[in-house]
Amino acid sequence: MQTLNVGLAERSYPIYIGSGLLPDCGLLIPYLTAGRAVIISNTTVAPLYLEKLRSSLESAGVRCNSVILPDGEEYKNSSSMDAIYDALLRSHCERSTTLIALGGGVIGDMVGFAAATYLRGVPFIQIPTTLLSQVDSSVGGKTGINHPLGKNMIGAFYQPKVVLADTRTLDTLPDRELSAGISEVIKYGLIRDMPFFEWLEVNIEKLLARDTEALQYAIARSCQNKAEVVGNDERESGERALLNLGHTFGHAIENGMGYGVWLHGEAVAAGTMMAADLSRRMGWLTEADVGRIRDLFQRAKLPVIGPRMSVEKYQELMGLDKKVVSGKIRFVLLEALGRSVMTGDVSVGLLKETLEACCD
Ligand code: NAD
Ligand code: GLY
Repeated sequence: MQTLNVGLAERSYPIYIGSGLLPDCGLLIPYLTAGRAVIISNTTVAPLYLEKLRSSLESAGVRCNSVILPDGEEYKNSSSMDAIYDALLRSHCERSTTLIALGGGVIGDMVGFAAATYLRGVPFIQIPTTLLSQVDSSVGGKTGINHPLGKNMIGAFYQPKVVLADTRTLDTLPDRELSAGISEVIKYGLIRDMPFFEWLEVNIEKLLARDTEALQYAIARSCQNKAEVVGNDERESGERALLNLGHTFGHAIENGMGYGVWLHGEAVAAGTMMAADLSRRMGWLTEADVGRIRDLFQRAKLPVIGPRMSVEKYQELMGLDKKVVSGKIRFVLLEALGRSVMTGDVSVGLLKETLEACCD
């Protein structure tokens, strides 16, 4: 098992990464001193892992309730939040009750938001079960839900008490979801860790084959990168925005196609190719650099062009991005492989060229 730390003074917390951690709740008990927890999961993950977790906690004397939500990005909304609040209120959960998110990023983001808001804040634990959630969404405290007008538009920064990533849960993850998670892994290499990007160029097939050692290495290295960035800039006043490489385009794809049609990681992959194309047009990346990125995404079985939507539609949807300042879209671009920058100085002409070149 590897232990990393997210350094945020009194809100610091550990990330435990290892194979087979779920049935052994010893790592969680120190964070459940009040002896009461509510495990929140979905209809896909609960049949696979809920009983393992519940019986382990109950055998340690923790009283557990559970809430099972419908599965899918299209349910990351205020109706699901109401379902969580209803269940918490009906079972008289108190301020000391700990919420446990058992699932992928959709569950993690919603449970975190419920924890931030129920009784003005209760403790919560992240148990991510997808690659994407183990390398990205469970760490850093971004929580929230989608709005019909924009992705992740309603939410809060609220840190978990502990993150427990059991890599064995990835055994049951569909291949398409594994690839979607690899998209966010590649992101860390591109924005700030060139040696990791080069490692991925050598080892990407091992990740697809679910090689345990390669997966653990990639998860730990991704979490290390994320923990450093979050430790420097928890509330995204600067460096943290770089973690959104490809997301301005990607969120437009997810929203424009209807939540759940393109997986988040797929939209980020196509969006990252658009950001790479724009970076080349800015004179920063070479054709060869863009080719290396495309090649890696293709080997990871991820899309490298966006879906057909008009340039105007893309621009309208991108205008809803959280990074927009005074009506101006700001982009995370690549100055070089392994080095990213945030800029608002992109001409409409260049953006149109990218959108025309990078969509189906
Ligand atoms: P997800 O939560 O929808 O999970 C993907 C699918 O895999 C779902 O059908 C889920 O039920 C299933 N699943 C989960 N674990 C499984 C397992 N072990 N075995 C079999 N099936 C399993 O999607 P995701 O990719 O984990 O997360 C995407 C979400 O995360 C998006 O909503 C995105 O906005 C959000 N996100 C948040 C952050 C953040 O910092 N908070 C960062 C990146 C992404
Ligand atoms: N996934 C982007 C962030 O956590 O900031």
